[in-house]
Amino acid sequence: MARYPSIQQITGAVLINRLQYSVLNENLDSIMAGLDVQSNDDVLAVCGSGDAAFAFLEHAASVVAVDRLPVQIEYANKRRWYLATGDTASFLREEDCLVGAMDTEKEDRDAYFLKPGRLDAIRSKLALASFVHADVFDVVEQRKGFTKIYLSNVIDHCYKNKDDVVVKLKKVAAALQHDGLVYACSTHSSLAKQMMGIGPTISLLVDQERTSKAGQVYTGGDRDVWYPVVLRKAA
Ligand SMILES: C[S@@+](CC[C@H](N)C(=O)[O-])C[C@H]1O[C@@H](n2cnc3c(N)ncnc32)[C@H](O)[C@@H]1O
Repeated sequence: MARYPSIQQITGAVLINRLQYSVLNENLDSIMAGLDVQSNDDVLAVCGSGDAAFAFLEHAASVVAVDRLPVQIEYANKRRWYLATGDTASFLREEDCLVGAMDTEKEDRDAYFLKPGRLDAIRSKLALASFVHADVFDVVEQRKGFTKIYLSNVIDHCYKNKDDVVVKLKKVAAALQHDGLVYACSTHSSLAKQMMGIGPTISLLVDQERTSKAGQVYTGGDRDVWYPVVLRKAA
């Protein structure tokens, strides 16, 4: 599918009811390399297409995926049903949406999930996932103790100024257990640098090894260029 217009080109009224993302427009190998999800992890994830949340579920103790758009949560729950009933084709189908993925992104996403045994492993853990209509910055105020948080590029979506980024990341840090990780990314290298720079003031230190592992996966070409940042909660 060809790339649809960027979110910034679409006016607000249309956004509420239309599906925006049906296929991850990032790279799952990069996200997994960055967040290093393990069997004892309680993960909070921004939902979007739901792809990252389903990928985390293979390894995690629990996954809570949230989105401020109800239509994305309905979509993720529908995909969960397809997975539960063994309908892999529908689980991987790209539905009409506002922000399409590049063909190469869908191919990579499909190849990730079609690794032998992977969908069965995720299917066996569906009871450990919940998909919730909520703003992630409200959730981190109400619920603490996550060990991994996938923010995707929500900061791109709500960027006001550097001070506001500090406030938002501080809330995220407060919801993380000691040594927990946050995976954030941006399509702007300057914002990624800003996130790395403000981390120390709010007990979120750049995990250089994980950031560089996540960054190595991007190959450029016809894809969006993402700048991933992995931050670790310090004492
Ligand atoms: C941040 S990206 C994640 C999409 C991801 N790259 C994918 O392809 O699935 C866009 C999603 O984040 C959601 N979103 C943006 N800001 C949010 C917030 N503050 N809280 C919850 N969801 C948010 C949007 O509604 C959209 O579904």
